[in-house]
Order: sequence, then C-alpha cells, then structure tokens
Amino acid sequence: MGFLALLSFLFLLGGTTRAEFQHTQQGGVALSAAQLPTASFTLPFTGKIPRREVKKNALAALNKYKRTGNDTLRLDGASFENEYLVNITVGGKPFRVILDSGSSDLWVAHSNFSCLDSNGTVVPPATCDFGLAQFDPSQSPTFQPFPNVTFLVRYGSGEFLSGPAGFDTVVVGGLSVKQQEIGVPDSNYFLGDGTSEGVLGLAFSGLTSVWNITSAKNTSGANHIPYTPFFINAVAQNKLEKPYFSVALNRPTFTQQVNDSFVPNLGFIAFGGIAPVPRLEDAVTVPVQPYTPNAGHLFVPSNASNATFEWYTIHIDAFTFPGSNDVATKSNNTFFDTGSTLNWLPSPVATAFNAQWEPPAVLDENTGLYTIDCNATAPPFAVVVAGTSFSIDARDLVIPQEDSNGNVICVSGNGDNGPDVPGNTFTLLMLIACGGDVFLHNVVATFNPVDAEVTLTGRVPY
Ligand SMILES: *[C@@H]1O[C@H](CO)[C@@H](O)[C@H](O)[C@H]1NC(C)=O
Ligand SMILES: *[C@@H]1O[C@H](CO)[C@@H](O)[C@H](O)[C@H]1NC(C)=O
Ligand SMILES: *[C@@H]1O[C@H](CO)[C@@H](O)[C@H](O)[C@H]1NC(C)=O
Ligand SMILES: *[C@@H]1O[C@H](CO)[C@@H](O)[C@H](O)[C@H]1NC(C)=O
Ligand SMILES: *[C@@H]1O[C@H](CO)[C@@H](O)[C@H](O)[C@H]1NC(C)=O
Ligand SMILES: *[C@@H]1O[C@H](CO)[C@@H](O)[C@H](O)[C@H]1NC(C)=O
Ligand SMILES: *[C@@H]1O[C@H](CO)[C@@H](O)[C@H](O)[C@H]1NC(C)=O
Ligand SMILES: *[C@@H]1O[C@H](CO)[C@@H](O)[C@H](O)[C@H]1NC(C)=O
Ligand SMILES: *[C@@H]1O[C@H](CO)[C@@H](O)[C@H](O)[C@H]1NC(C)=O
Ligand SMILES: *[C@@H]1O[C@H](CO)[C@@H](O)[C@H](O)[C@H]1NC(C)=O
Ligand SMILES: *[C@@H]1O[C@H](CO)[C@@H](O)[C@H](O)[C@H]1NC(C)=O
Ligand SMILES: *[C@@H]1O[C@H](CO)[C@@H](O)[C@H](O)[C@H]1NC(C)=O
Repeated sequence: MGFLALLSFLFLLGGTTRAEFQHTQQGGVALSAAQLPTASFTLPFTGKIPRREVKKNALAALNKYKRTGNDTLRLDGASFENEYLVNITVGGKPFRVILDSGSSDLWVAHSNFSCLDSNGTVVPPATCDFGLAQFDPSQSPTFQPFPNVTFLVRYGSGEFLSGPAGFDTVVVGGLSVKQQEIGVPDSNYFLGDGTSEGVLGLAFSGLTSVWNITSAKNTSGANHIPYTPFFINAVAQNKLEKPYFSVALNRPTFTQQVNDSFVPNLGFIAFGGIAPVPRLEDAVTVPVQPYTPNAGHLFVPSNASNATFEWYTIHIDAFTFPGSNDVATKSNNTFFDTGSTLNWLPSPVATAFNAQWEPPAVLDENTGLYTIDCNATAPPFAVVVAGTSFSIDARDLVIPQEDSNGNVICVSGNGDNGPDVPGNTFTLLMLIACGGDVFLHNVVATFNPVDAEVTLTGRVPY
C-alpha cells in the first residue's frame, strides 16, 4: 500500500513546528557495514497480505487518480499492494499493523467505527475489512483522551480515516513507549486486507495528523498540532542506545504474490541497530533532504535553515540501466516508502528504462504504469547513492497484478510519475517515491531520524 501521507501539504502554510532535530548538511559518507551496531529489539514481519478486493479493481482505481491537478498525489501503487505487517500492543491489547516509512501516524481502528465509501457515505463495517482486533479506548487502563482535537489522515491512495486522538502505551517487539499519541479513527474509508487493524508510521512529525478542531472538516495548517511519532518518542524516552530503525524486506516469490494471501517470514524491522540479515560490505550514509516550509502545498526540496523534514528523502546520484546516459537521472526528491510497491520515477527515466524490456513494455497513459509480459526480460537496473551502486534484482522488476477480469498481468517495477522539471508545480507535488519494495528488497535501509540520515547497506543476494 502506498501509504504516502497526502494531507500534510497544508500544514506547510503555518502552525508547524520545526523538524525534530537540527539537521546537518553534508555529502554522503561511505562506511563499513560493521560500523552499525546490532539492534536491541528485532521483530519479524508477520506477512505480506495482498488486498485482494483492491487488487481486482486496481487498474480502474488508478484511473481515478490520474494526473489531473496539483493537489492530487499519485495513487502511489496503492491499489494493488501488499503490506508488511508487524505485531504490536496498544494499551496491552495486540494488533497487527502495516509498517509504513512513508507516513508518521500510529493508529488503530476504533471498536465502534463507521465504515465509509470514498464519498463519505456509510457502508457496512465489513467493507473496511479490518482484522478482528479493534481498539476500545474505554477498555484500556492506560488510555488518556486528547480532548477537543481530531485525528484525520488521508493517504495517497485516497483512503481517509478520522476520529479521536489520545495517548497510550505502545509496545513494538519489546520496545515499550509510554504516553504515545495515537489516532483511534472511527469514521473510516479504508480498503483493508482482513488482517491489519492499523498503521505504524515511522516518518517525521511534520506528517502527523492531529488537528485542533472537534470535527473532521477544516484541517488547515493553522490547526495542525504536530506530535512526536512512535520511534522518535522511543528515542526521547531513552529506550534505545542508538537512534536507528532498520528495515530488511524480503522478496516473496512470484507464486506467493499471485496465489498466497499470507506469506510469513518476510524480513525484519529492528530498533537500535541494523536488521539481522546477511549483508555486503557496501554501505553508505546520506543526509535526509528537508523541504521548504513556505511554498504553499508544493514540496520543494530546500536546504534553508527553516526547512522541515517530512519523508526519508535522499539525493539519488543516478538510476543506471542501458541507455541511462541519455537522460537526466539525478534526483533530490526521492524518498523511501515501505508502504509502496513500485518505484515511481521521473518520466524521462521511466520512459528510457521501460523501452529496454524484451519484449517492450506498454505505457498506460492514465496511470503511469507500464504493462509487461510476465515472462519479459528485465533490463539491468541500479540506483546510485553517494557514489555507491545498488543493483535491483530482476525479479523485483516484474510485479504481478490482477486485471478487472481477475487475470494475472504484470507491470514494470518502475512507473512514471511525471516530469521532474523545476517550476512545474504539478510535478513538484508528485513526489518521486523510490524504494517501494522494488528497491527495498535489495538493501537494508537503516533510518536515523534524530540526525536525519539514512544508511543503505547492500544485501547478500537471496
Ligand atoms: C542541499 O544539500 C544537499 C546535501 O548535502 C546537497 O547535495 C545539495 O547540493 C544541496 N543543494 C543546494 C541547492 O545547495
Ligand atoms: C494548481 O495550483 C495553483 C495554485 O494553488 C492553482 O492556481 C491552479 O488552479 C491549480 N491547478 C489545478 C489543475 O488544480
Ligand atoms: C502476530 O500475531 C498473530 C495474531 O495474534 C499471531 O498469530 C502471530 O503468530 C504473531 N506473529 C508473530 C511473529 O509474533
Ligand atoms: C457507536 O457510535 C455511534 C455513532 O457513530 C453512537 O451513536 C453509539 O452510541 C456508539 N456506541 C457505543 C457503544 O459507544
Ligand atoms: C461517489 O460520487 C460520485 C459522484 O456522485 C459517483 O460517481 C461515485 O460512484 C461515488 N462513489 C461511490 C463509491 O459511491
Ligand atoms: C473542550 O471543549 C469544551 C467545549 O468547548 C470545553 O468546555 C472544554 O473545556 C474543552 N476541554 C479542554 C481540555 O480544552
Ligand atoms: C487550539 O486552539 C485554541 C485557540 O483556537 C487554543 O486556545 C488551544 O490552546 C489550541 N489547542 C491546542 C492543543 O493546541
Ligand atoms: C480553517 O481554519 C483556519 C484556521 O483556524 C481559518 O483561518 C480558515 O478560515 C478556516 N477555513 C474554513 C473553510 O473554515
Ligand atoms: C496459482 O495457483 C494455481 C492453482 O493452483 C496454479 O494453477 C497457478 O500456476 C499458480 N500461479 C502461479 C503464478 O504460480
Ligand atoms: C533540487 O533539484 C532541483 C533541480 O531538479 C534544483 O533546482 C534544486 O536546487 C535542488 N534542491 C536542493 C535543496 O538541492
Ligand atoms: C524560511 O527562510 C527563508 C530564507 O532562507 C525565508 O525566505 C522564508 O520566509 C522562511 N520561511 C518561514 C516560514 O519562516
Ligand atoms: C510464460 O512462459 C510460460 C512458458 O515458458 C508459459 O507457460 C506462460 O503462459 C507464460 N506466461 C505469460 C504470462 O506469458
């Protein structure tokens, strides 16, 4: 699911706090993989669940989010996605949530929720397809409500959830954080998977979604009340020796993606150090790119001292593939999203890359997706960060899909997200998400939101 948080463009207008920590700007630093410590807390991902219903409607749904205006973010691959789930407890009660490095809120569905359709009309609760566990604030001994505010998050997929906010004890893999601010949405348009009951967002506080209003109507920047997200709170509560969380996402097989509704053992999230999978010596640490605070709803990368951190955006030196020398492939607006499946790249890059498939890929103009033969041969593809090249396995570039008739088709792992032209407002809004799972299957990504850095470490091929 492309859990790119959509709502927050308005907070840039005002009322936002500075990013969590002073950022330092420097070039990338190559380091030995051994320099990252072993993690104090490690959790397996419990599975990757295709959201079947959504998958079926994927191509139709994507059309709805075609590039029509500058306040509509791309669907971000969200309609047909798989999710990496982790087990957590909130107020002592177990939940399964989607891990999302592309948003910042931690929410679990309210036990008394209304399920809505995309127009806000009430539909049967089963339509939201949450897992069995839901959160009843009155049953949690540690829950404290946050009165007179509203939790309201919108995702790039068009999904939105709103309801009360509060504070409770949250435990993720033994890492226990008290008084964590959470959302308990009770009015929800959500396309669930039948298993997960919430989302654990790991990006910066600027993307959090609590508003100083009592009904979910006016989420203007002036009403935004940013809060400290789970991981940064864990650091603030001195729960970790090092301010790292580290993600190793394993690739499911093609057959698993097509046929299995649950795939166990798909990697790890680790807190306090690096995720425990076999690694190469190649590793590089790069600063997170912040965004200008005063450009309205445009996400313009900026190094100004008042710039704020939103996503784990980094500078990409180049995307390399046959023919890549003929196009500009540098990018300073590419971020890591564990909640997204595809890489969404600038048009010239996507066009040049997708011309190299054998047989050639076919662009769907409405969606930016390239359809390929499931047996097509992928061009070699790598992402260069701070001088280090990370190759993407060919298996990650062939993404199975269901069309509206339920037939399996395949799309290219590199989709087209519009031109990367400065001053093109439409494009500037369309953040370029790299590392959807296509990229993240090939590296261990270690995030340090305190120092605003990301370390990429090559994985031993598997
Ligand atoms: C902003 O900082 C990054 C990271 O140090 C650097 O690569 C980039 O050139 C800087 N951009 C500008 C416009 O100064
Ligand atoms: C894009 O945003 C600008 C400035 O907010 C606005 O004037 C323009 O109408 C928008 N374009 C579309 C297609 O929504
Ligand atoms: C996660 O929770 C589910 C449901 O309680 C349980 O079946 C599963 O074994 C748990 N997974 C892990 C890795 O703890
Ligand atoms: C559930 O929510 C509805 C309104 O959405 C409300 O009328 C009802 O009283 C609530 N039930 C409980 C048990 O809180
Ligand atoms: C939402 O409203 C639009 C316009 O009235 C309609 O075309 C669409 O079918 C509605 N969607 C749903 C899910 O009811
Ligand atoms: C919440 O709003 C109500 C009604 O405006 C007010 O009486 C109450 O004092 C407010 N509570 C807090 C904690 O601000
Ligand atoms: C909400 O806004 C009111 C003024 O409209 C202010 O008095 C109050 O402190 C704000 N609450 C929070 C939590 O920021
Ligand atoms: C939304 O709230 C902001 C800040 O309180 C206010 O300036 C603006 O007029 C409100 N907009 C609407 C449509 O109510
Ligand atoms: C999915 O399962 C069906 C029925 O068992 C089988 O025919 C098909 O080959 C499987 N698909 C893949 C991609 O393995
Ligand atoms: C980001 O890249 C654009 C060109 O695509 C450039 O104009 C801008 O200065 C860069 N911003 C930063 C902060 O490096
Ligand atoms: C941020 O800093 C720039 C100069 O670096 C200034 O032009 C701009 O007004 C500042 N924005 C805010 C919201 O303070
Ligand atoms: C892929 O090739 C195999 C035989 O090599 C064939 O059975 C299968 O139908 C092909 N799949 C697609 C989607 O073309």
